[in-house]
Amino acid sequence: FVGSNADFLKGVVAMNGLPADDRIEVCFAGRSNVGKSSLINALTGRKGLARASNTPGRTQEINFFTLTESHYLVDLPGYGFANAPLAVVEKWQRLLKQYLQGRVGLRRAFVLIDSRHGVKDVDEEIMSLLDSAAVTFQVVMTKADKVKEKDRAKIMDQVRSKLSKHPAAFPEIVLTSSEKGDGIPTLRALIANLI
Ligand code: GTP
Ligand code: MG
Repeated sequence: FVGSNADFLKGVVAMNGLPADDRIEVCFAGRSNVGKSSLINALTGRKGLARASNTPGRTQEINFFTLTESHYLVDLPGYGFANAPLAVVEKWQRLLKQYLQGRVGLRRAFVLIDSRHGVKDVDEEIMSLLDSAAVTFQVVMTKADKVKEKDRAKIMDQVRSKLSKHPAAFPEIVLTSSEKGDGIPTLRALIANLI
């Protein structure tokens, strides 16, 4: 996989810190603690590459990883995190929105949804933002290892019905576990096809 040589490039806190928009990139968005950083580590096979943590709001910057000479993986700060100071949350949200709306090289956004919780209102807000920015997005279910098969079907139905309302949504949903490795080869193949 191309990702095995992935490396951290930089963390960005303001739009003027973004690297030049001259590469193709895919980004990972999702609620705080949904497993974005863990997924990047699983995808690249490099455990400490993106900082994962049990503390929601761990990733407070837009983190760029070089995937190849001409591609980035982008780890976004989580949204919907209630325990951070409002001013901080608003600053991230603004940055997140500006990034999602203005990035020419952004090929696809992966919107991560916790397999236990399904789509929440804040997820819908991001999906609507992506609709209006015409950024194709695809849902990746995370932490599949934490849900029993029979409970999963119900959540997946909820996710499918929510997605049907979003024109920018790619219909295929990828079920993953960064912990157990489920779905990781599928997602790698998807990314390889996009870039
Ligand atoms: P923020 O940076 O705060 O937005 O969080 P994040 O979305 O990057 O989540 P992160 O990858 O840091 O993971 C949050 C917690 O969930 C950590 O304790 C991870 O170990 C755990 N976690 C992530 N993926 C999985 C998974 O597939 N299975 C299980 N069981 N736990 C997971
Ligand atoms: Mg993170």
